[in-house]
Amino acid sequence: MLKPVLLMLLATGPASAADDLVLGRDTYHGGCAACHGAEAKGDGPMSSLISLPVPDLTRIAARNGGEFPWLKIVHIIDGRTGLRGHGGPMPLFGALFAGDTKAADAPDGSPVITSARVLAVTDYLASIQVAE
Ligand code: HEC
Repeated sequence: MLKPVLLMLLATGPASAADDLVLGRDTYHGGCAACHGAEAKGDGPMSSLISLPVPDLTRIAARNGGEFPWLKIVHIIDGRTGLRGHGGPMPLFGALFAGDTKAADAPDGSPVITSARVLAVTDYLASIQVAE
């Protein structure tokens, strides 16, 4: 499923913001929807199998006073934060996200180096936040 997207990215040169969202959505559906749900509401098929409640990812901003905590989310996804549900400091997503390192600027201007997929899926999550 990933291949056509990657080929498309190669064919169109440097990734645009729209391509980034496609990569993010694809990554989400491939690696996250099983637990967090297709609609990111925390109700994926695997959510009943794990002992921790699976958070609704469309309400991250709502839970943070209306602001999407971009850098914090990057670190949760790339494993630096070590959430229990994500296998501790060693991310579940090591293989999926290895390589393809990309630098970006956090909203406060500080540089962030992580994988292009982590950035893409974070931007995808930012794009699906619901009000309150
Ligand atoms: C095996 C099930 C599972 C998978 C797969 C999974 N998650 Fe999670 N996720 C969880 C659980 C459980 C928590 C809550 C962890 C805790 O409370 O320690 C969580 C928490 C999070 C949080 C923190 C939310 C908040 O508001 O604090 C984010 C962001 C997140 N996941 C994103 C993702 C992304 C992106 C992916 C795919 C790359 C993913 N998750 C894949 C189970 C999963």
